[in-house]
Amino acid sequence: MTYKNTADFASELDAKDELQQYRNEFHIPLQKNGKERIYLCGNSLGLQAKRTKKFIHQELEDWATFGVEGHFHAKNPWMPYHEFLTESYSKIIGAKKSEVVAMNTLTVNLHLMMISFYRPTKERHKIIIEADAFPSDIYAVESQIKHHGYSVEDSLIKLTPRDGESAIRTEDIAGIIEREGDEIALIMLGGVNYYTGQVFNFEKITKLGQDKGIVVGFDLAHAAGNVKLDLHKWEVDFAVWCSYKYLNSGPGSVAAAFVHEKHHNSDLPRFAGWWGHNKEDRFEMPDEFNAIKSAEGWQLSNPPILSLAAIRASLSIFDEAGMDKLVAKSKKLTDYLLFLLNTIETDRIEIITPEERGCQISIRVKNGNKELFDKITEKGVIADWREPDVIRVAPVPLYNSFSDVFNFYNVLKAVI
Ligand SMILES: Cc1ncc(COP(=O)(O)O)c(C=O)c1O
Repeated sequence: MTYKNTADFASELDAKDELQQYRNEFHIPLQKNGKERIYLCGNSLGLQAKRTKKFIHQELEDWATFGVEGHFHAKNPWMPYHEFLTESYSKIIGAKKSEVVAMNTLTVNLHLMMISFYRPTKERHKIIIEADAFPSDIYAVESQIKHHGYSVEDSLIKLTPRDGESAIRTEDIAGIIEREGDEIALIMLGGVNYYTGQVFNFEKITKLGQDKGIVVGFDLAHAAGNVKLDLHKWEVDFAVWCSYKYLNSGPGSVAAAFVHEKHHNSDLPRFAGWWGHNKEDRFEMPDEFNAIKSAEGWQLSNPPILSLAAIRASLSIFDEAGMDKLVAKSKKLTDYLLFLLNTIETDRIEIITPEERGCQISIRVKNGNKELFDKITEKGVIADWREPDVIRVAPVPLYNSFSDVFNFYNVLKAVI
């Protein structure tokens, strides 16, 4: 398609957008002057769907009406409430329903999964992660290594791009697996890197790793609801994700995990809690833990229903729109954004997101000059700044428009 850098052209693209009605389903934050902000921060915190209130209100009403009996008599009984999310989640990440569970928060789930899937031995104790993974993931893998009595220096392999490049090449990951594979216990990558927006080749990395006897897991914080995933088919061992970014379920809302069905009947060690115990006799309060033979067997506690209600509201929109259409629009939005950015004649910014991307475009600012970011914020843009030198912008297909993308470009160009 031939793009144009005009407001009229962006409006034409909006008029042809078959998902345009979903913008009205969300609350768009306003500027002081009453105009809508240019919200490009769904990679950090997704916007609130208008229907969220209704979903949460239903549970508040039922709590008021039924008290504890809401566990069975609420319109959507709380006892199995987390199960109401599994079908939608399984479509979003490409899994069987039995492989998905909503529980806890992201870093907690990362630890729970590593307790089961990082089983270091003297010969095989290393973990591979991106050098610029989100700090919580680095802290988590480092603390797991130390917990098992190994040293970070000996056991952590941090992937870096080649000099002068910003994305990590799959062939370089393959090289490390080839050279050190027998010593590697776990590959633990962000499916979409939080800093650069790079989407990793899940299928290939999983195969390369597993062929060498390595367990492969992904943090999908920036991938779930953003890119097309097929975790079951790719044979990924486990994955974790949060629901407050592309999944729009509110700050700190409950996270989720994927455990491939090949592990459901295994005797992997795990940290157990009563909600992971067999549902048939959970309330007979047995002393001996008997895990549910599905991802649900990794649950610890009975989940916070108000948070799950917000997720359910959001997932109902994903069910309607469908990942295929969302991903197709996301590609168009970022294609248009890249076209526009490339028309700005400047050496002050550089795009570091590779071709393999989702919604997020990371713009490196020369000399880490944050003034540029502060100025676009003053002019109504909500993006985010990540140290040392990147502005991340994410036009999200559910609620962002081509006009948002154009307006962002116009503000950035003016400030530059
Ligand atoms: C990739 C990644 N991992 C981990 C986290 C930490 O999430 P939480 O605070 O929900 O544990 C985040 C938060 O943004 C993230 O982006």
